[in-house]
Order: sequence, then C-alpha cells, then structure tokens
Amino acid sequence: MRNIVIVGLQWGDEGKGKIVDYLASRADAVVRFQGGNNAGHTIVVDDQIYKLNLLPSAVLRPGKVSLIGNGVALDPYALIKEIELLQSKGIEINPDNLMVSESCPLILSVHKAKEALFEDSDKIGTTNKGIGPCYEDKVGRRAIRLCDLESQDLLDQRIEVLLNYHNIIRQGFGSDLINKEDIMREILGIASKILPYKKCIWNILSNFKAEGREIIFEGAQGTFLDIDHGTYPFVTSSNTIAAQAILGSGLFSNNHVVGIAKAYTTRVGNGPFPTEQKNDVGNSLFTRGKELGTVSNRKRRCGWFDAVLIRQAVKLSGVSSIVLTKLDILDSFNTVKICIKYKCGNDEFDYLPALYEVQEKLEPVYEELPGWQQNTYGQRFSHKLHINLVKYVERIEELVGVPISLISTSPNREDIIVLKDLNFLF
Ligand code: IMP
Repeated sequence: MRNIVIVGLQWGDEGKGKIVDYLASRADAVVRFQGGNNAGHTIVVDDQIYKLNLLPSAVLRPGKVSLIGNGVALDPYALIKEIELLQSKGIEINPDNLMVSESCPLILSVHKAKEALFEDSDKIGTTNKGIGPCYEDKVGRRAIRLCDLESQDLLDQRIEVLLNYHNIIRQGFGSDLINKEDIMREILGIASKILPYKKCIWNILSNFKAEGREIIFEGAQGTFLDIDHGTYPFVTSSNTIAAQAILGSGLFSNNHVVGIAKAYTTRVGNGPFPTEQKNDVGNSLFTRGKELGTVSNRKRRCGWFDAVLIRQAVKLSGVSSIVLTKLDILDSFNTVKICIKYKCGNDEFDYLPALYEVQEKLEPVYEELPGWQQNTYGQRFSHKLHINLVKYVERIEELVGVPISLISTSPNREDIIVLKDLNFLF
C-alpha cells in the first residue's frame, strides 16, 4: 500500500490546501512534515473561508486525524490561536484528532526578535515568523523542543543554552539582553494548552501503516523554496520536496507523489523569477488571481507558466501526477505563453542552474499558444473545455513529462475537473 505526498512545484501558493482537502475525503490521516506557520492554505467549504497556517488541512474533515511531524517548526502560540479560532467556528479539534510530534522545535519570541535584527541585511523577504532562526537553533542543537516542556528542571537548562547563544548575538547588535525568567514565563504560559497534543508521531504513523490506513503528507511552500534545491539564498529554511515527508514525519514509506502547479507562476518575497511579467500581463494575473499572500498580505509577483521549473520539480520529487490550479485566471488572454527553455548569453539551459548570478540573468524562451477566451470558473466537466485550453494542458504534459490528473477551477472544494482518475492513488 502506498501513501500520498503532496508538494508544491513552484514557489508556494500553488493551491495545495484545497487539493489535500479534496483527497483527504478518501484518506484517514494528514501529516504536515516541514515549515511552520509561514504557510498559508485557504480552503473554501460551503462559502466559509478557512485560512490554515499550521494545522493540516484534514482538520476540516470530521473523522480524520491531523498530525504535525517532527520536521515542523512549531510556534505554540500560533498553533493554539489557530485551534481556538477554528473551534469558535464549530470545528472539532481535540487530542484525539490532532497530534503534534514531541520532537518539534519551538518557535519562541527570541526567534522572531533575531529575524527582525537580521532581515534588513539579508533582504530575503521572509515572512517574519521566526522560521529560519528556529531551524538554525534545531541544527545548532540548542532548540527547545515540545518534549522539553514536560520537565521544568530540564527546561531551565535548555533555556540557558538557548540564551547563551541569542544574547551574544543581541550584544553584537547593541540590543537588550533577554533574561531566562521571561522565556520561562513565555513557555509556561502556553505549556498546559499545548502538551495534551504532544505525541510520538513516528510511532503512531507506523501503527497506521500497519493497519493499512491511508496517509497524506501535506507539503508547505514549494520546490524552489527548498533550502537545498531552491533559488538559494532566496529560499525558506526547510526541505520542501517529497523526500522530506519521510524525514519530517519519521514514517518510511513508498509514496505516490502528486505535484501541485498553478497554471501560471507566482512568487512572494525576493529572488530570481525568470518568467516574471512586470507589465500588464503581470498586473492582470495579479488582479484576476487575487494574488495577495495569505500569511503576510504581500503582493505576489506574477508571470507565465515555466515548464522548465516544473520539469525540474517533477524530477526532484518523483512526481507521478500533476494537479493544475487557477486555470480560469488565464480565461480572457488572447494568447498564453509557456517558457520552454532559458538563454543566458550564448548558453541555453533546460533546467534552472544553481548559481544565483546566472539565475538572475536567465531569459525565458517562450512558446505562444492561442487563448480560449471562455469562462472556466467553477467548471467541473472535461467535455465542456475549449479545445485551446485542452491544447495548453496537453502541451504542458508533453513538456514536463507527467500527466495532469486534475484541474482546479475555483477555490471551492467541489470545483475540480477530473482528467485522469486518481483511483490508483488509493
Ligand atoms: P521564511 O519561510 O519566512 O523564512 O521566508 C523565506 C522565503 O520563503 C520568503 O521569500 C517567503 O516569502 C517565502 N515563503 C515562505 N513560506 C511561503 C509560503 O507558504 N508561500 C509562499 N512563499 C513562502
């Protein structure tokens, strides 16, 4: 039996949440395995809009189990706030249907403070949620993990180790030093609310697997924000590709990988973006696609579909099937463009080279296809699709080498066109 990993194939915001929610109707559990509350998943159910940052998308489906794996950077205050907000809307969340790994490193006020100190010089355009500094502390072996909250003596020692490091940095900036009591108070202020959710996730998942339960791994961000494979240094601080599902959950399994791609490309924050359109096309994609970041409310940069990126993302994650989202946003264009390769001086690339200086200079080579100029918003049937739209989809399939199984035509849960049956996933 194989489980399903869902990953973004661009720079995040591909619409993964809706697809996880769609597939979750047939699964038993959904696991987050990386990132933190820098993610933003919007799901529309019966005209109610839910914006999730940290909680797996299965929380909206009664009877499903949501899990947060060890690979997630956990802001305990953000998690409890999100839980309480959903509970106030009548969503049932309790320690039987939400479980959080005891090994998650915690995002604390020191992390947000550090990010604020460094961001000016880094110019990455982060979400300012303390994600990077928390992962730095995890790798530096000084993070406070959820399990540390069990013992106040241990916690005391862990805070000391953490502050030894952070206060040296703060000194360098001439900032006030942080005292141990403040951090202890901060942690104890949330401990009793968060500890009931603390579980041994790898073991629970292992039991689920033995029982034949279907698990979905829910990726956050996107392939080109991956710390190793993305447009470094303009990336997030975790691995976002499918292999991370195993490390960030502790469940070794043989998975199907479903990649989510927008029918055009967007990016929030700074960094290379070969097909970006700083013109009427970009403005039009921004307006029609309502491309405002869910987390930081920043304008997303917009551009044409980049088949080079998607082909690379498909290879990096072993994607077997693609879901194309927001195709309706291209409805009224006379022509639509797909980037098929890059040029840089006399060189041509059929992949994204690693060097930032080259990435910045890449010139996309486009193929131009006729538009369909037909309203596809909310469309659910493939036989009603305009021939030019079908050709656009088929050309993408040819260029990226894997089939497109689903097309999403609105934020609503039911607005999906099934091109290829996904029964093989279950
Ligand atoms: P960080 O993850 O807050 O460290 O931000 C690093 C980069 O990743 C910035 O460019 C962010 O805009 C981007 N980023 C982080 N999370 C998301 C996401 O969920 N969607 C899109 N971009 C993201």
